[in-house]
Amino acid sequence: MEKKIKIGLLGFGTVGTGVVRVFQENRHEISRKAGAQIEIGYVLVRDINKQRTYTDGLQLTDDINDILKDKEIDIVIELMGGMHPAREYMLRAMEAGKSVVTANKDVVARCGKELFAMAEEHDVDFMFEASVGGGIPIITPLKQCLTANRITEVMGIVNGTTNYMLTKMTQGGSDYGAVLKEAQNKGYAEADPSADVEGLDAARKAAILASIAFNTRICLDDVSIEGITHITPADIEYATELGYVIKLLAIARESPDKGVNVRVHPTFLPKDHPLAAVSDVFNAIFIQGNAIGEAMFYGRGAGSLPTASAVVADVVDVVRDIVNHTFGRIRCTCYEKKKICPIEETVSAYYVRLLVEDQPGVLGTIATVFGAQGVSLNSVIQTRRVDDCAEIVAITHSVAHKKIEKAVSVLRGLAVVTEIRNIIRVENGQGAV
Ligand code: NAP
Ligand code: HSE
Repeated sequence: MEKKIKIGLLGFGTVGTGVVRVFQENRHEISRKAGAQIEIGYVLVRDINKQRTYTDGLQLTDDINDILKDKEIDIVIELMGGMHPAREYMLRAMEAGKSVVTANKDVVARCGKELFAMAEEHDVDFMFEASVGGGIPIITPLKQCLTANRITEVMGIVNGTTNYMLTKMTQGGSDYGAVLKEAQNKGYAEADPSADVEGLDAARKAAILASIAFNTRICLDDVSIEGITHITPADIEYATELGYVIKLLAIARESPDKGVNVRVHPTFLPKDHPLAAVSDVFNAIFIQGNAIGEAMFYGRGAGSLPTASAVVADVVDVVRDIVNHTFGRIRCTCYEKKKICPIEETVSAYYVRLLVEDQPGVLGTIATVFGAQGVSLNSVIQTRRVDDCAEIVAITHSVAHKKIEKAVSVLRGLAVVTEIRNIIRVENGQGAV
């Protein structure tokens, strides 16, 4: 094999180290599959004096120009994370004629249009498979294997940290802080884990998925975001009692009249739903297409080697393009402008947990308020007492967001209602926007 392709790696943390390991351990097979020898030139880090492993044969630098000005480097892998200077380095790399592979959903979700335009202008590839679902192939399947479909729904568990936390809390009732620390120690969490637990990481991935699925540019501001910070052990216990699990879901749906709705929120999911069995750091994404029907993609959504698996696969694709002189084969597919459906216009079933005074007629009063606002109840239970109050849990039928908001605001004003403790959406399989 004569051809040699040189790579510049930006970032040598959790994923960067995984990429180096995959190249070291599978060097022979990867080169055979790519059709060229692949060699890592420089590795950019912030602190060149840090103690590191897997550095054999690598040249570390803290100067980006060592990579951008090296004419032998054809591909830049960006694994630093964050917006700046990652965005600028990627743009400069493409300007210098280098293809870019990244796992950075922050930059892809916010600056995808700009990055694709730069890639097109300079006839290079821009690949980002690892930005959604860690090691799970999902961007390439959507752009290539499922391209014949009109996609109507994408629903998934796309954040490994929160899925790990919710799983541990469900299985062992572990404390929220302790399980977050475990996820951080395993290298799943973002540098600032509030992006995981507050739903922002999943929202970035939802924006990327929805943009590709619906061929329209979905910005982060178009995504309604709610994290898991308000989920308590009591909600998890009720979910179990009622036959559900709580999952942080990213949901993107399109309806002919309302448009595209994209949202991230904790969800009561029936135990027999395929996504309910997705535990720990695993992610899964459900796609509904008009030709394929339902398809589900499942695997490890975070971690060093799983994420590196997706990054290196993108590199192999780019190398194949270089070898075959076919740059920029898969371009931006956001070619349509579509109406965005705001969360206020969506329809869902809800779980409402409230504390009320324990006296005759209160249950009837609550039911009357729901009824008066057009909210139909599917079930109501009252099994516990908390601080001398009765705790009521109601599960509604599908109802417009505006109606549930109105009903809850009326309930809050009632003297017999001590506290609305939580409101969580329930996925009841009706798939409505
Ligand atoms: P990480 O462990 O924090 O590593 C970041 C690396 O980038 C470090 O080596 C750091 O250098 C370097 N770096 C950061 N800022 C720099 C700067 N301004 N100049 C030079 N080097 C800089 O991050 P990670 O977990 O590997 O994540 C990397 C990217 O992959 C992120 O976009 C993340 O969202 C994405 N991702 C991560 C996972 C995961 O499971 N961790 C999964 C999917 C996608 P030092 O080593 O000197 O500090
Ligand atoms: N923090 C992210 C997660 C990493 O937990 O899923 C993968 O994008």
